[in-house]
Amino acid sequence: MTAAAGIRAVFLGGPGAGKGTQAQRLAASGIAAHISTGDMLRAHVADGTDLGKQARGYMDSGRLVPDDVIIAMVMHRIAEPDARGSWILDGFPRTLPQAEALEANLSDAGQALSHVVHFAVPHEDLVARLTGRRTCGSCGAIWHVQFQPTARESVCDRCGGALVQRADDRIEAVEKRLQVYRTQTEPLLAFYRDQGTLVEVDASRPRDEVYRQVESVLALAGRSTAHESDNL
Ligand code: AP5
Repeated sequence: MTAAAGIRAVFLGGPGAGKGTQAQRLAASGIAAHISTGDMLRAHVADGTDLGKQARGYMDSGRLVPDDVIIAMVMHRIAEPDARGSWILDGFPRTLPQAEALEANLSDAGQALSHVVHFAVPHEDLVARLTGRRTCGSCGAIWHVQFQPTARESVCDRCGGALVQRADDRIEAVEKRLQVYRTQTEPLLAFYRDQGTLVEVDASRPRDEVYRQVESVLALAGRSTAHESDNL
């Protein structure tokens, strides 16, 4: 399969597993639109919308935003023109009702998910990934103080913007997010495994290696990987 065949993929995995890192790079290569519910919610919070005001308290404390809010937001997003071809959902679904809503929505359109990719990383590695993460406040690029440092401290290599630490990457919120992941999202692994659509990648490996695994899963091996060592 190639990208032209239409990728409708879900990236599943714990907080900090590297879903956003890999989806950003695939999107920058023109392979699929990157639809991140976390990024969409953070944009709402930054813009001070009603949805953002409603979501903020849940996000900052590491809890999930209510299903009805998220489902409406995602269904609207995947109907937009740039998502009519290929897309990757990063951070959705996160609960069984969200997975069922997605399935019903796609089925109504005569479609189905093409890939469900599980980014497997031991939970003990996730804490270091999250607490050291820095994100560009301008372009959204993802960095890490140790695993993916920028040339100048706190300055984005890609656009020169200032790096920020997400409020939910503080240790108290990280622990809550890991607990929420175990109880509310991990059951989706069995849901998709039972459907025969779940594929595992070893996301504990270095990010270029993880990218190659994801390419292979999406059957994209051989496409241009010109940005291999860039932060894309
Ligand atoms: P969201 O933004 O989706 O957070 P998350 O799922 O917890 O995922 P992250 O963005 O933290 O991690 P990631 O897997 O993308 O890792 P990354 O690539 O950045 O959601 C935030 C909040 O919004 C939720 O808590 C909730 O409140 C709400 N929300 C969102 N969706 C929702 C939904 N569907 N329902 C209800 N509520 C919802 O990588 C992490 C770090 O590791 C980076 O610093 C990176 O440089 C580094 N790294 C990446 N890959 C590697 C590697 N291979 N080796 C070493 N380091 C690496």
